[in-house]
Amino acid sequence: MTQNWSPESWRAKPVQQMPEYTDKAALEAVEADLRAMPPLVFAGEARQLQHSLGHAAQGKAFLLQGGDCAESFAEFSANHIRDTFRVLLQMAVVMTYGGSLPVVKVGRMAGQFAKPRSSDTETQGDVTLPSYRGDNVNSLDFTPEARIPDPKRLVQSYHQATATLNLLRAFAKGGYADLNRVHGWNLDFVSDSPLKERYEDLANRIDEALRFMAACGVTSQTVPAIQQTEFYTSHEALHLNYEQAMTREDSLTGDWYDTSAHLLWIGARTHQEDYAQIEFVRGIKNPLGLKCSPALEPDELIRLIDILNPENIPGRLTLIARMGHDQVEDKLLPLLRRVKAEGRSVVWSCDPMHGNTYKSSSGYKTRNFEHILGEVRGFFAAHKTEGTHPGGVHFEMTGKNVTECVGGAHAIGDEDLSSRYHTACDPRLNANQALELAFLIADELKAIRHDGLSKPIAAAAE
Ligand code: PEP
Ligand code: CO
Repeated sequence: MTQNWSPESWRAKPVQQMPEYTDKAALEAVEADLRAMPPLVFAGEARQLQHSLGHAAQGKAFLLQGGDCAESFAEFSANHIRDTFRVLLQMAVVMTYGGSLPVVKVGRMAGQFAKPRSSDTETQGDVTLPSYRGDNVNSLDFTPEARIPDPKRLVQSYHQATATLNLLRAFAKGGYADLNRVHGWNLDFVSDSPLKERYEDLANRIDEALRFMAACGVTSQTVPAIQQTEFYTSHEALHLNYEQAMTREDSLTGDWYDTSAHLLWIGARTHQEDYAQIEFVRGIKNPLGLKCSPALEPDELIRLIDILNPENIPGRLTLIARMGHDQVEDKLLPLLRRVKAEGRSVVWSCDPMHGNTYKSSSGYKTRNFEHILGEVRGFFAAHKTEGTHPGGVHFEMTGKNVTECVGGAHAIGDEDLSSRYHTACDPRLNANQALELAFLIADELKAIRHDGLSKPIAAAAE
């Protein structure tokens, strides 16, 4: 049992990035309601994910984590969920094929509502209001009433997460994810793009392999893995009243699990050692993520690993580096070196989104697709230098044909951003850009495989 920890021990610590509710009684009533709600995920599923992530830590699997920056009440629909799920499936199949590695699929979905903000207030013209903090806290509308935190939004986000997860489970297990449907996952607007041929070629090869295997007696009926997939959920562990209310003792092991998602991560703004978010997650047994920003020093990282993964369990901790394309190698190398020297088992994942955000000349918050690709390349290069495993990637993306990040095969320019800019928070990759990125990652993974294959021969020749 983790020492001096309880689901509410975070309350004695300083806390950042949480809303100030004026009506405390209303908040307590909502917390009581949430405590009585059924769990969203089961402890056994979280353990299964941790096991798979343990493989990623050893270079035997690869993590694909992605979804909206912030889920919203307005964008919630079956089609929105299906489209994001479908692009993640497409990306996973491209990466599995290219890398010959199992891909562990984790959505930033079914609970990714609460947002940390760089400023407590937002100013438009001569009006200053409290910042928007995610749909589970307040509303994006720029009016004083809309920005007041309302605890009832936590209940609405619980119900949205429940419905989302229900559909995701059906998609993952009910036949939609059957590899025989690999052609069908292509979205219309991807079929208009230069990626069409590359994806179709891959889908044809998979078809051919499946026909060969079927002739040998290996079909969706005999091998469920062809027809079904494992799909996990994750979000930032930010809103601790909600996370505490969803935390339950596992009857099998007596351990505590946050049943709001399979994996919870700590954001770049809330990883202070003696603060509430770190206190909360250290005691739950779900696999954890920790965002690593350029400001994170190797000593501080090791102290955080001591707190979050004292038993050095493979798969328990995923370090999500978000350094920015221009400093990824400089900032990542010292961390890789130190973690390796100390023998810590972690999954190294690359978030090429959050270090590459800027305001475009048209006034939109955006990211340049070339910078995103550049950070992914730099991440793989740093691992090659250190001889460590690149274990995964973390994206903000959507299955919709949005125009939020500039660049990519369709060459979205600054002037195009206004056409379909729908995000409630950070700019997301659209389906085309996400797929293009998946091909790049597949190529990187393939290169590692070839390096690995050539190593023993080179060693024998020495
Ligand atoms: C996010 O993942 O949406 C986020 C806010 O990231 P970070 O904590 O890395 O800035
Ligand atoms: Co974001």
